[in-house]
Amino acid sequence: MITDPGVDDAFAIIYALLHPELDIVGIVCDYGNVSQPVAIRNTSYLLNLAGRGDIPIIRGSEVPLSGSAPKLFYDIHGYKGIGGVDTTGTPSPPLHPFHKIYQLIELHGSDLTIVNLSRLTSLAVAFIQSRSLIDKVKDIIIMGGAFFVPGNWTPLAEANIYGDAKAAKVVAKHGTNLTFIPLNVSNRAIISNSLIYSLSTQSHTPFSPILKTVMDYYSNKYKEIIPGINGAPLHDVTLLSYLTNKEDYQLISRQVFVIASGPAKGMTFADFRPVPEKVPNYPVNKMVLDFNFEKFQQDFVTILSAARFYH
Ligand code: RIB
Ligand code: CA
Repeated sequence: MITDPGVDDAFAIIYALLHPELDIVGIVCDYGNVSQPVAIRNTSYLLNLAGRGDIPIIRGSEVPLSGSAPKLFYDIHGYKGIGGVDTTGTPSPPLHPFHKIYQLIELHGSDLTIVNLSRLTSLAVAFIQSRSLIDKVKDIIIMGGAFFVPGNWTPLAEANIYGDAKAAKVVAKHGTNLTFIPLNVSNRAIISNSLIYSLSTQSHTPFSPILKTVMDYYSNKYKEIIPGINGAPLHDVTLLSYLTNKEDYQLISRQVFVIASGPAKGMTFADFRPVPEKVPNYPVNKMVLDFNFEKFQQDFVTILSAARFYH
């Protein structure tokens, strides 16, 4: 998992930790919603809550490929941690260097799925350093892009793509086992506050006590972004839910292109004409443009209610 927690990333990590069929073998922490050190701290906080300090935390990217300081989004995701939860007292965890990613690929190979929930910088670096190795993993699922729908950073661009559009272009141009889950799906993965409140009171997992505080902060911000919204989209959770519920997600195959600079920077596009024109020497990958929201919501409740943990 490559992540920048961040509220929806935190829910994705919680979901994966509680899921009986998912096994997290490592978490790469990147900048994005928050700085890389804060992403590390927030990840460690969640792993400690679950008693899963055994999961390696890997130091990912601190800045985009351009080397410039990234724009961060504490206003949406929390100044002291994850939403309203203060994680500042979390002890620094042992950190694994970037090449731990390659060791994990060597170890798990075609059993391993990489789930990218943040900017694509670390993934692009892995493509540049070790393409043949990256090609060995089963799948690379990317939260990113917007097709025929507005972006969420600019009118045209989704945040994970815009945040390092050069990196996204490298990945889209060279990846052969990619699945994009864009805003078309993730914007619709809206979980209401009342659902979170009932989970926080009726479920008994190590995360139940923090769910409301995490969500309240984020959903209050979302009310400013999307007036009238009832809850907030948990973008990153859709990728984890997709892994074990593929029948609820409609996959199509397309060549995916990224605009890396200029006024349309971060825009993603594909040829949706009935007979798409195939660009030579460019990979055909997969994307999901539609899903069954009711099933997603049901699955989210089932997994977050699970009493898989001892407490
Ligand atoms: O555009 C949504 C994506 O950007 C999510 O991954 C969110 O956490 C932010 O990183
Ligand atoms: Ca994210």
